Amino acid sequence: MHKINIAIDGPAGSGKSTVAKEVAAKLSYLYIDTGAMYRSLTFRALQAQVSEQDEQSLIELLKEMEITLEQQSDGEVQVLVNGERLGEEIRSQIVTAKVSEVSAHRKIREEMVARQQQLAKQKGVVLDGRDIGTYVLPGAELKIYMDASVEERAKRRHLENMEKQRPSDITTTKEALKRRDRLDRERPIAPLQQAGDAVLVDTTNQTIEEVVARICRIAREKENES
Ligand code: CDP
Ligand code: CDP
Repeated sequence: MHKINIAIDGPAGSGKSTVAKEVAAKLSYLYIDTGAMYRSLTFRALQAQVSEQDEQSLIELLKEMEITLEQQSDGEVQVLVNGERLGEEIRSQIVTAKVSEVSAHRKIREEMVARQQQLAKQKGVVLDGRDIGTYVLPGAELKIYMDASVEERAKRRHLENMEKQRPSDITTTKEALKRRDRLDRERPIAPLQQAGDAVLVDTTNQTIEEVVARICRIAREKENES
């Protein structure tokens, strides 16, 4: 039995990070949240008053940022930028509203993809994002494309916001989510799309446990094959 690499892509709220975290814990793999890297850069850009359109300033900012993803014992991921912990601030409405524009620039993606490939050099990693199966780990042994209806995804994100005491209403959450999905799907560089060899997992009517069990089952089969 050999460890494999797992790529999980899909739109916002489809369940990627929740499921990726649990799959990684069950298989004793490393979980890498690539969205947190784009969110950290967006947060820093807002702090430094760098526009989301200004590719050159954004890449200069990113080059100065050492982004570390620390896995905690409870499976949660702690993001550190140059040793400083970032928390909830990378999930704020303003970061969420700007992150897709920041992520659309070629130079930013090239730098992020190179860093993610470096982090995933060893086998036994689960990465989630938008372009993992298509660009970051095209050779991953298991690729999942996770999806759910937009109504269900907006409901989940709204509930999550309420639980975490973030300001939220269902209509605004749904519109923001649809806008971000459109930007992520329509950008010219590494858009969100299902890789040809990815397994489609529709989580609309599935519990987290069911999805985790299904992915772990396929992963075990792939481990035995490789
Ligand atoms: O968790 P949620 O689905 O809300 O988003 P995320 O995974 O934290 O990603 C935030 C944003 O980063 C996405 O909407 C994309 O614009 C960008 N992203 C990307 O372009 N490529 C990735 N591999 C991961 C995220
Ligand atoms: O990472 P992504 O944006 O794809 O989604 P997530 O942050 O993992 O999931 C969004 C919310 O939906 C979380 O609060 C999950 O607990 C919930 N969820 C769910 O209710 N049922 C699923 N099958 C998957 C996620």
